Amino acid sequence: MSSYIIEGGKKLEGETYVSGSKNASLPIMAASILSGKTTKLYNVPDIYDIKFTSDILKVLGCTVKRNKNKITINSKQIKTHEIPDKLMREMRSSVILAGAIIGRFKNAVFSYPGGCDIGSRPIDLHLQGFKKLGINIIEESGFIKCMADKIVGAEIHLDFPSVGATENLMLASVLAEGETIIKNAAREPEIQDLQEMLNKMGANIEGAGTGIIRIKGVKTLKDVSYTIMPDRIEAGTLLCSIAITRGKGIIRNVIPEHIAPIIAKLEECGCKIQVNSDIIKIESNNRLKGIEIKTMPYPGFPTDMQSVFGALLTTAKGTSVIIENIFENRFKYINELKRMGAKATIEGKMAVMKGVRKLSNAEVNSTDLRGGAALILAGLFANRKNKSK
Ligand code: EPU
Repeated sequence: MSSYIIEGGKKLEGETYVSGSKNASLPIMAASILSGKTTKLYNVPDIYDIKFTSDILKVLGCTVKRNKNKITINSKQIKTHEIPDKLMREMRSSVILAGAIIGRFKNAVFSYPGGCDIGSRPIDLHLQGFKKLGINIIEESGFIKCMADKIVGAEIHLDFPSVGATENLMLASVLAEGETIIKNAAREPEIQDLQEMLNKMGANIEGAGTGIIRIKGVKTLKDVSYTIMPDRIEAGTLLCSIAITRGKGIIRNVIPEHIAPIIAKLEECGCKIQVNSDIIKIESNNRLKGIEIKTMPYPGFPTDMQSVFGALLTTAKGTSVIIENIFENRFKYINELKRMGAKATIEGKMAVMKGVRKLSNAEVNSTDLRGGAALILAGLFANRKNKSK
């Protein structure tokens, strides 16, 4: 198990930049399956989820080459349509590959995906959408078998604007006969990045970023080169890291519009933020104050920033309230924060934090990716010398 040792108590000051988006890269890598040709992706972050996705693509028969932040995928020689259970369990987004495999070959076999333990995370909306596209689904011995003679465009209304279901249905319908309309689609920027990449590859999609996405099926796709957008959650995490240490800094390669709710909440806490094109300056101070946060689908406040803000608010003056509306199990990090001296209570989907002047060092366990980031932030604040809030 990997561990980080953080010597906290120092203000973060300086300049850094944001990498390519994890959650945009994953569906875009899946999209490379659709063309049967070559996809060159730039600005791909060097992280485990990308490695797992590359591993699955290789098992399917793709060639995948990485050179620094560039990944080249060729999907001409795909030899199996089955995603191995072991790799499905490694991460949630493995399920997105299913949509692309079905989209190209009209059949796929996969099992239920794993991923961070932040809630039950069903895939019913993905499967209901596949059925609407004329795909037969048989669940047997833990495996999901999808088969279709042909995939025919349909109108699909999602009960909830699920990011993964929206992406999977876009991928499954790019090469379908006729038009697919996804209503109540997720509006996250990662969906827009996927649309842009697919259209560059020859797809005919419009509406990403709104609640209605229209996909007109095309017959073939072509080689594509595409640069992944910056990671909005990494940008927010870097800003909060500076904020919690009461430091100041500059973050480059940010799309400010993507992090508008994060900027608004940091300002409400008392941080000074200046936006200039893709550069954000932040200046924190010793008088940060508690606020209220409610997570919502985009353009609301992102659930992926909830735990990181949770760490920050643990150290802000007064009482803060966090309401988690997306995942039912995303407060686990709070019990770990308490080991460091945080004062908080959890009641269902609500957490209430009472700001403390100091946190102390402790051994803590990361329960999921963003919860881990929250604990790193708390570690940065721990043992600081100036203890006035
Ligand atoms: N849901 C269902 N049925 C489904 C699909 C989703 O009930 O078939 C529910 C989920 O259980 C959850 C809600 O809908 O309560 C939202 O889930 P969604 O499908 O939107 O999330 P996701 O696609 O599984 C992506 C990101 C997550 C991010 C969420 C919400 C990727 C790879 N993952 O997950 O990112 O939290 O959207 O924005 O894009 C992370 O990066 O740490 C992370 C967890």
